Amino acid sequence: MRRLQDKVAIITGAGGGIGRGIAVRFAAEGAKVGVLDRRKSMCDAVVDEIRAAGGAALALECDVTNEEQVTAAVETLSAAFGTVNVLVNNAAVMPSGRIHETSPEDFDRCVAVNLRGAFLMSRAVIPGMLAARSGSIIHMASVTAILGLPGIAAYSMTKGGLTALARAMSTDYARLGIRVNAVSPGTIDSPMLHNFVAAQSNPELMRKAYDEMHPIGRVGTIDEVASVFVFLASDEASFVTGANYEVDGGLGVKGEQPQDKPADYPDSKASVLDI
Ligand SMILES: NC(=O)c1ccc[n+]([C@@H]2O[C@H](COP(=O)([O-])OP(=O)(O)OC[C@H]3O[C@@H](n4cnc5c(N)ncnc54)[C@H](O)[C@@H]3O)[C@@H](O)[C@H]2O)c1
Repeated sequence: MRRLQDKVAIITGAGGGIGRGIAVRFAAEGAKVGVLDRRKSMCDAVVDEIRAAGGAALALECDVTNEEQVTAAVETLSAAFGTVNVLVNNAAVMPSGRIHETSPEDFDRCVAVNLRGAFLMSRAVIPGMLAARSGSIIHMASVTAILGLPGIAAYSMTKGGLTALARAMSTDYARLGIRVNAVSPGTIDSPMLHNFVAAQSNPELMRKAYDEMHPIGRVGTIDEVASVFVFLASDEASFVTGANYEVDGGLGVKGEQPQDKPADYPDSKASVLDI
């Protein structure tokens, strides 16, 4: 028996990166998977990959900030495969820059995708889960929620919001059969990392710094993150709710940051000496 046999799972932002990895692993474990992303071509490519491996999947073109599209996506998946048992809120955008460098438009977009998206998706699947008295919702957070890494304040705020959302939702639904958890990865070898590193003043140095700052000595892989999602989605995690799993090679414990701060970024050592 595979670990997610007969479950119906919807994964947002599954057209690439970590979301794609989670969708492929879920399907390999027997789940029927809704591959949700903004562009149909992205979803189709992942659905083709899953079907070629003998799995079941459906492409769901959807902007998670749009309530009508979210409702339609959940209805389409339920009509094809049955009640949704598992929701992974993985879609996200990451504007970079300190707060005074972040435009209100970028801030609003970040909140809309990362938080409103998770809210709308949860809202759409919960009635079916309540009727079945069974469900697992997993919010993709980040170690940035607790570390305060420089240059991504708006993004980090939304990730902190998702860990709080998981805790709050877990108590609301604990006696009703729905478990709600968060996963906080450290740095993962993924397109999001590649794009972020490429935008830095010294990409090569930055990439090396990311490997070095993890106590394990390297960034994580998409598969290492997907493994934790498989566990939380499965019945093996039947007593796990309200948790935040740090999948970060020890980074959250160590708390070190890459040394690529802008020239005018406050240096705590200098400040102490000045006093
Ligand atoms: N890569 C890392 O190092 C890392 C570390 C910690 C947490 N995370 C989190 O993991 C998740 C996946 O990250 P990734 O590295 O694969 O990045 P990614 O940019 O490749 O994936 C994000 C996906 O979300 C989709 N998306 C964006 N806006 C959307 C919208 N409005 N509606 C539907 N889909 C939308 C994108 O099209 C994309 O496929 C994110 O939540 C990210 O914050 C990533």
